Amino acid sequence: MTNQGDSSTGGVLVRDVRKEFTSPKGEPLRVLDGVSMDVRPGEFISIVGPSGCGKTTLLRIIQGLDDADGGEVRVAGALPGQGPTGFVFQRASLFPWRTVERNVAFGLDLAALKGEPGRPATRSGRRDRVAGLLRLTGLADFADYYPSQISGGMQQRVNLARALAIQPSVLLMDEPFSALDAQTREKLQRDLQRVVHETGTTTIFITHDIREAVFQADRVFVMAARPGRFVKVYDIDEPRPRRAEFQQSDRLAELAREIWGLLHHPKSEAALAAANSTA
Ligand SMILES: Nc1ncnc2c1ncn2[C@@H]1O[C@H](COP(=O)(O)OP(=O)(O)OP(=O)(O)O)[C@@H](O)[C@H]1O
Ligand SMILES: [Mg+2]
Repeated sequence: MTNQGDSSTGGVLVRDVRKEFTSPKGEPLRVLDGVSMDVRPGEFISIVGPSGCGKTTLLRIIQGLDDADGGEVRVAGALPGQGPTGFVFQRASLFPWRTVERNVAFGLDLAALKGEPGRPATRSGRRDRVAGLLRLTGLADFADYYPSQISGGMQQRVNLARALAIQPSVLLMDEPFSALDAQTREKLQRDLQRVVHETGTTTIFITHDIREAVFQADRVFVMAARPGRFVKVYDIDEPRPRRAEFQQSDRLAELAREIWGLLHHPKSEAALAAANSTA
């Protein structure tokens, strides 16, 4: 595993994190065991792994929504939950009674409420910030629409714009495009590439779609279950922001096949054990 992360300037450091839950029967459930990753500032990381292996749990710990039972986490040099972090979930969580513009502005209202930095002091400064984000995410013409009047893909764009409103150094995304059709998803992947490139945002992106993971990331972390841990890290040596040609390339398909094999091959236990020794 690389050790070049600089969490003080916008990276993320996760070191030897452990997490246990209690099962409904009252038995301890070891969900994360010795999870470590160093994410460099501006880097794009994808995490793939079987359902229930602990991906969301890890993201919640990085976000500060859950506490680890052991280990260390730093987000842009601060403890989880203390610095501005953007979060985009699988399902769009917009306020139906607010327009697109007001939904994006909500990120700024919330930051003010929590006394977080990163919010323009003046009303016109805030309006400019929101207008810039709407342009960046291709929503400028839909500022006055309500969520029910726009498509699912557009709703996820609004979520992204809202998460970026506070100019977070780190963006955490948990299967943000999984509810969308394939074509919309590929378009949003390209848009996300452009947006995080322009904003320089460090991104951790969870997905079940291996092609999506490879297309977007500088590195793909592969997780195994019970207990959740990283078993292999793939370097995707391709300039970012990624473009449509890479999305359709043989190289991407080959990398995706290799990762798929690691996750699904009948001999995966042996493969994982072998990979584990090099991860
Ligand atoms: N609050 C909780 N209490 C008890 N067990 C929990 C809790 N949250 C998660 N778990 C358990 O932890 C394990 C990991 O869950 P998690 O949601 O992190 O998996 P995941 O990798 O995100 O899965 P998926 O790909 O299906 O989203 C699961 O076995 C789940 O049942
Ligand atoms: Mg999950």
